[in-house]
Amino acid sequence: MVHWTLDDIPCDRFDAAKLDPDILAIVKAASLVEQNGADYARYLHGVFAGDTAFQDAATQWGTEEIQHGQALGRYATLADPSFNHADACARFTAGFRVDLDAQASVRGSRAGELVARCIVETGTSSYYTALGEATDEPVLKAICRRIAADELRHYKLFLTHLDRYLQEEGLGFWGRLGIALGRIRESEDDELAMAYHVANDLGSYDRRRASEAYARRAYSVYRRHHVERGMAMVLKVVGITPNGRLNRFATGLAWWGMQRRVERWTKAAA
Ligand SMILES: [Fe+2]
Ligand SMILES: [Fe+2]
Repeated sequence: MVHWTLDDIPCDRFDAAKLDPDILAIVKAASLVEQNGADYARYLHGVFAGDTAFQDAATQWGTEEIQHGQALGRYATLADPSFNHADACARFTAGFRVDLDAQASVRGSRAGELVARCIVETGTSSYYTALGEATDEPVLKAICRRIAADELRHYKLFLTHLDRYLQEEGLGFWGRLGIALGRIRESEDDELAMAYHVANDLGSYDRRRASEAYARRAYSVYRRHHVERGMAMVLKVVGITPNGRLNRFATGLAWWGMQRRVERWTKAAA
């Protein structure tokens, strides 16, 4: 079931004066990562061989992720006609490639793979919610609202399959926590750094510099309530009922860490 199409985006309402260049830079990067949904769908088909119900869901999921890439890519070109989305996607996949022929999850089990997928969808659903609230540009707001709703549905989809695999395979609290924390840390690895570098033509590739330049801009769109909502979603994945006190404590730590890092990167960039 398709929830929206590219034709639903009100491009005629675009207002260049309301678009922050830092936000455009991270939108360009996101358009490349989202477009990579086709490769991830193929990877998931290999990992979940024989589970046709999940494979069908992964196909639909991949189609929606590609549509996110198309919507954001088209938007980036509207805002900056020199940006060629197809060209940038080709350069991105030349520098970063998912293992297309994997027969087993890099997380050690199918349940582990689903924990990682839930963490990714937690990140994207809170990110697009935050981005949509941070920008005043009406077309980007409209795109982010639609994508954020899809990402939340994706989280629920993977969580449903995770419950099934936890009953079949089992994966304890510490195993789930380790995978969740590992996947959160990976957000500063090569994928987003490479996407930001390629999408913004940064010259020779310096992973750390590109990663910090991306994360400084991306973290800046968050407000505490986005982190709190994301934290509740993460706690649920690792099997903890997100009560108010625990969530507030974990959110406080994460929020403090994000703020310190944005300050440090901003100073370094200056
Ligand atoms: Fe997406
Ligand atoms: Fe998603």
